[in-house]
Amino acid sequence: MSLGTQPLRWYRLATWSAPGKVFLFGEHAVVYGKPGIAMAIKPRVMVTVRKAKRQKKPNSTYIAECFRQMGVSGSVYVRSQLPSSSGLGSSAAVTVATLFAINDEFEIGKSADELALIAHTVEKNVQNGRASATDTYVSTVGGMVLITGNTKRRLPPPQIQLVIGNSLTHHSTSGMVARVADLKKTRPQIADPIIEAIAAVTKCSMHHFNNPRELGNLMNMNHALLEALGVGHPQLSRLVLAARAAGALGAKMTGAGGGGCMFALCSKSAKTRVAGAIEACEARAIITGIDTQGVRKEKDE
Ligand code: MEV
Repeated sequence: MSLGTQPLRWYRLATWSAPGKVFLFGEHAVVYGKPGIAMAIKPRVMVTVRKAKRQKKPNSTYIAECFRQMGVSGSVYVRSQLPSSSGLGSSAAVTVATLFAINDEFEIGKSADELALIAHTVEKNVQNGRASATDTYVSTVGGMVLITGNTKRRLPPPQIQLVIGNSLTHHSTSGMVARVADLKKTRPQIADPIIEAIAAVTKCSMHHFNNPRELGNLMNMNHALLEALGVGHPQLSRLVLAARAAGALGAKMTGAGGGGCMFALCSKSAKTRVAGAIEACEARAIITGIDTQGVRKEKDE
């Protein structure tokens, strides 16, 4: 085939990137309409989309569902700075970046709001109908967001230093969400007050984003409540305790739990010590901060 007969766009591929996230407060409770606060972080996922006559089966069910929702066929190339299945929102970042790249490559013309809604539908379909819009929304808009049911709001970006600890233990978000649903069904008298208490901690945190010490105390409470809900993991608890002992102001698991990541809130002077304490527990530490940019187009390739 002669390149001369093809429009220039034929060999320029759409590459989009989207950030990961940490759940500062309210994971799991947010699935039941309670408030949740999440923050976009620096590590990103980059997705390049290419048109194809027939849909090749992608490795990721999230990517397959993106093509199905957009009604086109293609292939993707994914590069990620985020560990997968670890609570840092890599599936949401892949979903968001893939949808924006498909929209661009196929010139579909959907708005960013429409694509954010489709991203939430993709997550819900893959996670058996149970997913809040938090992960996909924060990956789309960046910064810090508050989600309550269908209401989404961007909050002023806080000046906080985070050290993430990856327990290197994989988890399944849909499995952990199903575990909480099961507890709610079999022991509502226990699960419901825990979920209410998580909501109370989240609401209280909104008055303390300028007070790192108080924010740290609230993170510790949120961690204990998640453990009570049955989504803890021994290695996560070990990392949380090690971070606090090394001088973190607070530490909690982030995301679905059952493995994956925790993060610690630190003063500037403590962050290297906290990262060292996490690494000493056979885990991986990432020192990071907020990314105020959400999904974005990268250079054409
Ligand atoms: C996963 O990052 C957070 C959960 O609350 C699920 C969700 O919000 O969809 C566990």
